[in-house]
Amino acid sequence: MLPDPRWRYDEQRHSGVDFSTLAEVEAYDAYMRKMRDSGAESAKIKAALGLQPDHVILDIGCGTGETALGLALHCARVHAVDVSGEMLSCAAAKAQQRGLANIAFGQAGFLTCQYPAATFDAVLSQLALHHLPDFWKHIALRRVHRLLKPGGRFLLQDAVLPSETPDFERYFAGIVAAIAAAGGEKVARDTETTLRDEHPTLDWIMLGLLEKAGFTVVSAEAAPPFIHTYLCVK
Ligand SMILES: C[S@@+](CC[C@H](N)C(=O)[O-])C[C@H]1O[C@@H](n2cnc3c(N)ncnc32)[C@H](O)[C@@H]1O
Repeated sequence: MLPDPRWRYDEQRHSGVDFSTLAEVEAYDAYMRKMRDSGAESAKIKAALGLQPDHVILDIGCGTGETALGLALHCARVHAVDVSGEMLSCAAAKAQQRGLANIAFGQAGFLTCQYPAATFDAVLSQLALHHLPDFWKHIALRRVHRLLKPGGRFLLQDAVLPSETPDFERYFAGIVAAIAAAGGEKVARDTETTLRDEHPTLDWIMLGLLEKAGFTVVSAEAAPPFIHTYLCVK
């Protein structure tokens, strides 16, 4: 059930980078294809989630869909949701081109996707949770926990910052320079926006949020420049 509208955070409202336009989505897809190896990422996530051919899984904030499409080759069904209609159109077009019929796309987010409790064998989310402020991350993670079957796994990858950063301006400038070198100026400007205007949280807060939502955190890995990956079990 959705909460009373008075207390419902509007997750369609864009904090930071606006992924609701076609130009922004095409730019995102182009630089992600340049900077990421989606085949290797999907293989790693498949192994971490212990994906089986009969599994039904959920990808929240699927973006242009590369991970969801990669995982659809190895499980029974993928539900892929995103708040951006343009992101979903891009992902759905790829699914059709690749002849993948076992993916259901839906325009919804962490706070609005509607499924019965214990629907999914596994849930994943990459680089999307930081669009929510911390209180709403807590609500989002509790919802994810409810959607998983007992023993189900949750892989969360997101922008997370270290608590021990004596000079944050220098630290942020280093991140942006590394991103510019790997992906160019546009993605560097978007990273500045993420750091300034979105809601990447601190490492100890993220661990606490996952645990308070009821998860056991099996592993937590930090990869440069500021991406943390948590494997959790319900
Ligand atoms: C940086 S992109 C990541 C996309 C994809 N997961 C990937 O790894 O490439 C962030 C995505 O999160 C989506 N998003 C923003 N707020 C969201 C929310 N509250 N719930 C679900 N998705 C959200 C955006 O529309 C966008 O597609």
